[in-house]
Amino acid sequence: MPGKNEIIHKEDLNSESFRLCVYAPEIVRKHLPGQFVILRVHEDGERIPLSVVGTDSEKGLLDMVVQVAGKTTRLLSGLSRGDSILDVVGPLGRPTGITKVGNVVTVGGGVGIAGVVKITRAFLEEGNTVTGIIGARSRDMVILEREMRAACHTLHVATDDGSAGKKGFVTDILRGLIGDGQPIDEVLTVGPLVMMKAVADLTRPHGIRTVASLNTLMVDGTGMCGCCRCTVDGQMKFACVDGPEFDAHKIDFEELLRRQYMYADLEKTSCETCRIEENLQNGG
Ligand code: NAD
Ligand code: FES
Repeated sequence: MPGKNEIIHKEDLNSESFRLCVYAPEIVRKHLPGQFVILRVHEDGERIPLSVVGTDSEKGLLDMVVQVAGKTTRLLSGLSRGDSILDVVGPLGRPTGITKVGNVVTVGGGVGIAGVVKITRAFLEEGNTVTGIIGARSRDMVILEREMRAACHTLHVATDDGSAGKKGFVTDILRGLIGDGQPIDEVLTVGPLVMMKAVADLTRPHGIRTVASLNTLMVDGTGMCGCCRCTVDGQMKFACVDGPEFDAHKIDFEELLRRQYMYADLEKTSCETCRIEENLQNGG
């Protein structure tokens, strides 16, 4: 039997992200669509929140996608099959409200596609008519297309440069569906903040219920540190315990966008240090 948090499968998806399958049966048993996990790679390491692509309850496997964006994700990318991750905590956050509403559109952007697959499948299994929209910068950045295709009735793909699917943003496709009069009762979106804000701005005038999953900075994931605070409908909320999903028309995206890059310089320095340490270890 695999060890706790042992990496069972690791696969590069493109130059920026990789898929990570970890043995974590207790989390798998309880995980519901929309919930996330927090990983810690070593004792002094930061904690990083990750979306869950899917779970295999028979094998106890937790399937995740990691985008290499900072020191911790670089350390994670250096681990191999058979290695174990120090801490995997979860499931965290409130599950998605999956009900039969009729016509649902799920929108995943970039690495956020990882967070929309299980939710999309759950809406389908609940008896909704489900349209998926996924978008990325270019063909090689489109991830989990096969999984998304299997999770919905119709899938639209967009790339910024037109190298796969339709040229443009996910919002261009959504605008087209609304313009064509496609009935839409609910939109759920996961991806970069600017994209989720654009989705909310698009659906607001049409009164289409829209839910966004926030991937804010997080530390404890239990509502204690305040790191993940956001303003929703004028009230302070913690994405880790009150979310991660909120009514997108009520989220103060401007505030989140201002805070998003607060630690960018520190992260860059930390990454550089990590690279220098790796070079020294490799005798460079
Ligand atoms: P990206 O910047 O490559 O964008 C992906 C797609 O989003 C684009 O191809 C486009 O279709 C759409 N998009 C981007 N900007 C847009 C705009 N202004 N208007 C309309 N659509 C737009 O994405 P990436 O680099 O893969 O994503 C990284 C970001 O996603 C990180 O900031 C990360 O924190 C976030 N993320 C969020 C979640 C979540 O739960 N919300 C999960 C994982 C990652
Ligand atoms: Fe600390 Fe949410 S991560 S309160």
